[in-house]
Amino acid sequence: MSESFIKAAVVGHPVKHSKSPLIHGYWIEKYGLKGSYGAVDLAPEELESGIRRLVEEEGYSGFNLTVPHKEAGLRLCDEIDETARRIGAVNTLVVKGGKIRGMNTDSQGFLLNIEQNSPGFSFAGKTVLVLGAGGAAKAVIGGLRDRGAGRIILSNRTRDKAEALAAVTPGIEVVAWDGKENALSGVDLLVNTTTLGMTGQPPLEIDLEALPYTALVNDIVYAPLMTPLLQAAQARGNPVVTGIGMLLHQARPAFHAWFGVMPEVTKELEDMVLR
Ligand code: ATR
Repeated sequence: MSESFIKAAVVGHPVKHSKSPLIHGYWIEKYGLKGSYGAVDLAPEELESGIRRLVEEEGYSGFNLTVPHKEAGLRLCDEIDETARRIGAVNTLVVKGGKIRGMNTDSQGFLLNIEQNSPGFSFAGKTVLVLGAGGAAKAVIGGLRDRGAGRIILSNRTRDKAEALAAVTPGIEVVAWDGKENALSGVDLLVNTTTLGMTGQPPLEIDLEALPYTALVNDIVYAPLMTPLLQAAQARGNPVVTGIGMLLHQARPAFHAWFGVMPEVTKELEDMVLR
Protein backbone atom coordinates (compact mmCIF):
# COMPACT_ATOMS: atom_id res chain seq x y z
CA MET A 1 0.00 0.00 0.00
CA SER A 2 1.34 3.42 -0.92
CA GLU A 3 2.01 5.90 1.87
CA SER A 4 1.58 8.91 -0.40
CA PHE A 5 -1.66 10.87 -0.72
CA ILE A 6 -3.68 9.45 -3.60
CA LYS A 7 -6.10 11.63 -5.53
CA ALA A 8 -8.85 10.05 -7.58
CA ALA A 9 -12.14 11.27 -9.07
CA VAL A 10 -15.11 10.31 -11.18
CA VAL A 11 -15.27 12.24 -14.44
CA GLY A 12 -18.58 12.61 -16.25
CA HIS A 13 -20.92 15.11 -17.87
CA PRO A 14 -23.04 15.68 -15.87
CA VAL A 15 -21.46 14.17 -12.78
CA LYS A 16 -23.35 15.70 -9.85
CA HIS A 17 -25.64 12.67 -9.47
CA SER A 18 -22.73 10.22 -9.14
CA LYS A 19 -22.64 8.03 -6.03
CA SER A 20 -18.99 7.12 -6.58
CA PRO A 21 -17.53 9.85 -4.29
CA LEU A 22 -19.72 8.51 -1.47
CA ILE A 23 -18.56 4.93 -2.02
CA HIS A 24 -14.83 5.61 -2.38
CA GLY A 25 -14.88 8.25 0.37
CA TYR A 26 -16.45 5.67 2.71
CA TRP A 27 -13.70 3.16 1.93
CA ILE A 28 -10.86 5.71 2.24
CA GLU A 29 -12.10 6.47 5.73
CA LYS A 30 -12.89 2.88 6.67
CA TYR A 31 -9.42 1.64 5.73
CA GLY A 32 -7.64 4.70 7.17
CA LEU A 33 -6.00 5.64 3.86
CA LYS A 34 -4.45 8.90 2.80
CA GLY A 35 -6.39 10.03 -0.23
CA SER A 36 -9.37 11.78 -1.72
CA TYR A 37 -12.04 10.97 -4.28
CA GLY A 38 -13.91 13.81 -5.96
CA ALA A 39 -16.19 14.46 -8.91
CA VAL A 40 -15.09 16.45 -11.95
CA ASP A 41 -17.41 17.60 -14.71
CA LEU A 42 -15.70 17.60 -18.09
CA ALA A 43 -17.58 18.07 -21.37
CA PRO A 44 -16.62 15.61 -24.14
CA GLU A 45 -14.48 18.17 -26.00
CA GLU A 46 -12.39 18.88 -22.90
CA LEU A 47 -12.00 15.28 -21.71
CA GLU A 48 -8.48 14.73 -22.97
CA SER A 49 -7.05 18.14 -21.99
CA GLY A 50 -8.91 18.02 -18.67
CA ILE A 51 -7.52 14.61 -17.70
CA ARG A 52 -3.99 15.67 -18.70
CA ARG A 53 -4.30 18.78 -16.53
CA LEU A 54 -5.63 16.82 -13.56
CA VAL A 55 -2.72 14.37 -13.85
CA GLU A 56 0.11 16.78 -14.63
CA GLU A 57 -0.88 19.84 -12.61
CA GLU A 58 -3.02 18.42 -9.81
CA GLY A 59 -1.37 15.06 -9.25
CA TYR A 60 -4.40 12.80 -9.80
CA SER A 61 -3.57 9.12 -10.17
CA GLY A 62 -6.96 7.53 -10.69
CA PHE A 63 -10.26 8.16 -12.43
CA ASN A 64 -13.59 6.55 -12.99
CA LEU A 65 -15.20 7.53 -16.26
CA THR A 66 -18.94 7.67 -16.47
CA VAL A 67 -21.52 8.71 -19.06
CA PRO A 68 -20.68 9.87 -21.74
CA HIS A 69 -16.92 9.19 -21.54
CA LYS A 70 -16.55 5.41 -21.32
CA GLU A 71 -15.93 4.84 -25.02
CA ALA A 72 -14.01 8.08 -25.71
CA GLY A 73 -11.81 7.26 -22.71
CA LEU A 74 -10.11 4.48 -24.70
CA ARG A 75 -8.21 7.15 -26.63
CA LEU A 76 -6.59 8.47 -23.45
CA CYS A 77 -5.00 5.17 -22.55
CA ASP A 78 -1.39 4.11 -23.12
CA GLU A 79 -2.39 0.57 -22.17
CA ILE A 80 -5.81 -1.08 -22.17
CA ASP A 81 -6.51 -4.29 -20.31
CA GLU A 82 -7.99 -7.28 -22.09
CA THR A 83 -11.52 -6.95 -20.67
CA ALA A 84 -11.81 -3.24 -21.53
CA ARG A 85 -10.49 -3.85 -25.02
CA ARG A 86 -13.02 -6.61 -25.61
CA ILE A 87 -15.89 -4.51 -24.24
CA GLY A 88 -14.76 -1.42 -26.16
CA ALA A 89 -15.13 0.89 -23.16
CA VAL A 90 -13.17 1.93 -20.06
CA ASN A 91 -14.63 2.94 -16.70
CA THR A 92 -11.38 3.07 -14.71
CA LEU A 93 -8.06 4.82 -15.42
CA VAL A 94 -4.91 4.16 -13.41
CA VAL A 95 -2.01 6.60 -13.80
CA LYS A 96 1.43 5.21 -13.03
CA GLY A 97 4.82 6.54 -14.11
CA GLY A 98 3.11 9.05 -16.39
CA LYS A 99 1.26 6.29 -18.28
CA ILE A 100 -2.50 5.74 -18.24
CA ARG A 101 -3.89 2.20 -18.01
CA GLY A 102 -7.55 1.65 -18.86
CA MET A 103 -9.69 -1.00 -17.23
CA ASN A 104 -13.35 -1.94 -17.31
CA THR A 105 -14.79 -3.22 -14.04
CA ASP A 106 -18.46 -2.99 -15.06
CA SER A 107 -18.65 -6.62 -16.26
CA GLN A 108 -17.26 -7.83 -12.98
CA GLY A 109 -19.73 -5.59 -11.12
CA PHE A 110 -22.63 -7.04 -13.09
CA LEU A 111 -21.55 -10.66 -12.51
CA LEU A 112 -20.75 -10.28 -8.81
CA ASN A 113 -24.04 -8.51 -8.16
CA ILE A 114 -26.02 -11.43 -9.60
CA GLU A 115 -23.80 -14.08 -8.02
CA GLN A 116 -23.94 -12.48 -4.58
CA ASN A 117 -27.66 -11.71 -4.63
CA SER A 118 -28.93 -14.78 -6.41
CA PRO A 119 -26.81 -17.56 -4.94
CA GLY A 120 -26.95 -20.71 -6.99
CA PHE A 121 -27.70 -18.91 -10.25
CA SER A 122 -25.31 -20.10 -12.91
CA PHE A 123 -24.87 -18.26 -16.23
CA ALA A 124 -23.45 -21.26 -18.08
CA GLY A 125 -25.65 -22.37 -20.95
CA LYS A 126 -28.45 -19.95 -20.03
CA THR A 127 -30.63 -17.90 -22.38
CA VAL A 128 -30.40 -14.18 -21.63
CA LEU A 129 -32.40 -11.29 -23.05
CA VAL A 130 -30.46 -8.02 -22.80
CA LEU A 131 -32.38 -4.77 -23.33
CA GLY A 132 -30.24 -1.84 -24.54
CA ALA A 133 -27.08 -1.60 -26.62
CA GLY A 134 -25.05 1.20 -24.98
CA GLY A 135 -21.83 1.04 -22.96
CA ALA A 136 -23.52 -0.77 -20.07
CA ALA A 137 -24.92 -3.42 -22.41
CA LYS A 138 -21.42 -4.05 -23.80
CA ALA A 139 -20.11 -4.71 -20.30
CA VAL A 140 -23.05 -6.97 -19.44
CA ILE A 141 -22.60 -8.95 -22.66
CA GLY A 142 -18.85 -9.23 -22.01
CA GLY A 143 -19.60 -10.67 -18.57
CA LEU A 144 -22.21 -13.09 -19.92
CA ARG A 145 -19.75 -14.39 -22.49
CA ASP A 146 -17.04 -14.80 -19.84
CA ARG A 147 -19.41 -16.98 -17.82
CA GLY A 148 -20.44 -19.08 -20.81
CA ALA A 149 -24.04 -17.95 -21.30
CA GLY A 150 -25.65 -20.15 -23.94
CA ARG A 151 -27.79 -17.76 -25.95
CA ILE A 152 -27.72 -13.96 -25.81
CA ILE A 153 -30.67 -12.11 -27.34
CA LEU A 154 -30.34 -8.34 -27.74
CA SER A 155 -33.06 -5.75 -28.24
CA ASN A 156 -32.56 -2.02 -28.55
CA ARG A 157 -34.78 0.89 -29.58
CA THR A 158 -32.20 1.85 -32.22
CA ARG A 159 -31.83 -1.49 -33.94
CA ASP A 160 -28.66 -0.49 -35.83
CA LYS A 161 -26.77 -0.21 -32.53
CA ALA A 162 -27.81 -3.73 -31.53
CA GLU A 163 -26.82 -5.00 -34.99
CA ALA A 164 -23.43 -3.26 -34.74
CA LEU A 165 -22.81 -4.89 -31.38
CA ALA A 166 -23.89 -8.29 -32.70
CA ALA A 167 -21.59 -7.89 -35.70
CA VAL A 168 -18.51 -7.76 -33.45
CA THR A 169 -19.78 -10.28 -30.87
CA PRO A 170 -20.35 -13.75 -32.28
CA GLY A 171 -23.50 -15.60 -31.28
CA ILE A 172 -25.78 -12.67 -30.44
CA GLU A 173 -29.31 -12.65 -31.85
CA VAL A 174 -31.02 -9.31 -32.38
CA VAL A 175 -34.79 -8.91 -31.97
CA ALA A 176 -36.91 -5.85 -32.75
CA TRP A 177 -37.62 -3.47 -29.85
CA ASP A 178 -41.31 -3.60 -30.69
CA GLY A 179 -41.27 -7.40 -30.67
CA LYS A 180 -39.11 -7.97 -27.58
CA GLU A 181 -41.98 -9.75 -25.78
CA ASN A 182 -41.81 -12.50 -28.43
CA ALA A 183 -38.32 -13.37 -27.18
CA LEU A 184 -39.37 -13.82 -23.55
CA SER A 185 -40.41 -17.47 -23.55
CA GLY A 186 -37.44 -19.65 -22.69
CA VAL A 187 -35.47 -16.77 -21.16
CA ASP A 188 -33.57 -17.60 -17.94
CA LEU A 189 -32.34 -14.07 -17.28
CA LEU A 190 -33.74 -10.70 -18.36
CA VAL A 191 -31.45 -7.67 -17.94
CA ASN A 192 -32.42 -4.04 -18.49
CA THR A 193 -29.36 -1.95 -19.38
CA THR A 194 -31.33 0.99 -20.76
CA THR A 195 -31.99 4.15 -18.77
CA LEU A 196 -35.73 3.47 -18.83
CA GLY A 197 -37.20 3.24 -15.33
CA MET A 198 -34.60 5.60 -13.84
CA THR A 199 -35.92 8.52 -11.81
CA GLY A 200 -36.93 11.21 -14.31
CA GLN A 201 -37.07 8.78 -17.25
CA PRO A 202 -40.10 6.97 -18.67
CA PRO A 203 -40.68 3.42 -17.38
CA LEU A 204 -39.64 0.43 -19.45
CA GLU A 205 -42.80 -0.79 -21.13
CA ILE A 206 -42.70 -4.57 -21.43
CA ASP A 207 -45.44 -7.17 -21.03
CA LEU A 208 -43.89 -9.98 -18.99
CA GLU A 209 -46.68 -12.50 -19.63
CA ALA A 210 -44.51 -14.87 -21.69
CA LEU A 211 -41.57 -14.77 -19.26
CA PRO A 212 -41.07 -18.06 -17.37
CA TYR A 213 -41.83 -17.61 -13.65
CA THR A 214 -38.40 -18.97 -12.77
CA ALA A 215 -36.54 -16.37 -14.85
CA LEU A 216 -34.30 -13.99 -12.93
CA VAL A 217 -34.90 -10.30 -13.67
CA ASN A 218 -32.12 -7.74 -13.17
CA ASP A 219 -32.19 -4.00 -13.72
CA ILE A 220 -28.96 -2.06 -13.76
CA VAL A 221 -30.90 1.10 -12.88
CA TYR A 222 -30.65 1.61 -9.11
CA ALA A 223 -32.53 4.88 -8.61
CA PRO A 224 -35.21 3.93 -7.75
CA LEU A 225 -34.04 0.63 -6.35
CA MET A 226 -37.25 -1.17 -7.26
CA THR A 227 -37.84 0.00 -10.81
CA PRO A 228 -41.26 -0.53 -12.42
CA LEU A 229 -39.72 -3.54 -14.25
CA LEU A 230 -38.54 -5.16 -11.01
CA GLN A 231 -41.85 -4.42 -9.30
CA ALA A 232 -43.80 -6.04 -12.14
CA ALA A 233 -41.48 -9.07 -12.14
CA GLN A 234 -41.66 -9.49 -8.38
CA ALA A 235 -45.45 -9.14 -8.38
CA ARG A 236 -45.74 -12.20 -10.64
CA GLY A 237 -43.29 -14.18 -8.53
CA ASN A 238 -40.05 -13.88 -10.51
CA PRO A 239 -36.81 -13.60 -8.54
CA VAL A 240 -35.26 -10.14 -8.95
CA VAL A 241 -31.84 -8.54 -8.39
CA THR A 242 -31.62 -4.74 -8.12
CA GLY A 243 -28.90 -2.60 -9.70
CA ILE A 244 -27.21 -1.26 -6.59
CA GLY A 245 -24.83 -4.21 -6.24
CA MET A 246 -23.41 -3.62 -9.72
CA LEU A 247 -22.52 -0.06 -8.75
CA LEU A 248 -20.88 -1.21 -5.53
CA HIS A 249 -19.04 -4.18 -7.02
CA GLN A 250 -17.66 -2.30 -10.04
CA ALA A 251 -16.08 0.13 -7.59
CA ARG A 252 -14.06 -2.55 -5.72
CA PRO A 253 -11.40 -3.44 -8.33
CA ALA A 254 -10.99 0.26 -9.19
CA PHE A 255 -10.36 1.15 -5.53
CA HIS A 256 -7.93 -1.77 -5.33
CA ALA A 257 -6.03 -0.56 -8.39
CA TRP A 258 -5.51 2.92 -6.87
CA PHE A 259 -5.23 2.28 -3.15
CA GLY A 260 -3.90 -1.29 -3.00
CA VAL A 261 -6.75 -2.49 -0.74
CA MET A 262 -9.63 -4.67 -1.99
CA PRO A 263 -12.55 -3.11 -0.12
CA GLU A 264 -15.67 -4.88 1.09
CA VAL A 265 -19.24 -4.34 0.00
CA THR A 266 -21.29 -4.29 3.19
CA LYS A 267 -24.92 -3.68 4.09
CA GLU A 268 -23.84 -0.48 5.86
CA LEU A 269 -22.29 0.84 2.64
CA GLU A 270 -25.33 -0.15 0.60
CA ASP A 271 -27.69 1.58 3.05
CA MET A 272 -25.57 4.71 3.00
CA VAL A 273 -25.56 4.88 -0.79
CA LEU A 274 -29.31 4.35 -0.97
CA ARG A 275 -30.15 7.01 1.61
P1 ATR B 1 -24.90 3.48 -20.97
O1 ATR B 1 -23.45 3.72 -21.23
O2 ATR B 1 -25.29 3.69 -19.53
O3 ATR B 1 -25.38 2.17 -21.52
P2 ATR B 1 -25.94 4.83 -23.27
O4 ATR B 1 -24.79 4.36 -24.07
O5 ATR B 1 -26.39 6.26 -23.43
O6 ATR B 1 -25.68 4.66 -21.72
O7 ATR B 1 -27.17 3.83 -23.57
C1 ATR B 1 -28.46 4.08 -23.12
C2 ATR B 1 -29.39 2.94 -23.57
O8 ATR B 1 -30.72 3.25 -23.14
C3 ATR B 1 -29.44 2.75 -25.07
O9 ATR B 1 -29.64 1.38 -25.36
C4 ATR B 1 -30.69 3.57 -25.43
O10 ATR B 1 -31.32 3.18 -26.62
P3 ATR B 1 -30.87 3.87 -28.04
O11 ATR B 1 -29.62 3.16 -28.44
O12 ATR B 1 -32.00 3.62 -28.95
O13 ATR B 1 -30.64 5.34 -27.74
C5 ATR B 1 -31.58 3.24 -24.27
N1 ATR B 1 -32.65 4.24 -24.13
C6 ATR B 1 -32.55 5.48 -23.61
N2 ATR B 1 -33.76 6.10 -23.65
C7 ATR B 1 -34.63 5.23 -24.22
C8 ATR B 1 -36.03 5.27 -24.54
N3 ATR B 1 -36.77 6.35 -24.28
N4 ATR B 1 -36.59 4.17 -25.10
C9 ATR B 1 -35.84 3.06 -25.36
N5 ATR B 1 -34.52 2.97 -25.08
C10 ATR B 1 -33.92 4.03 -24.52
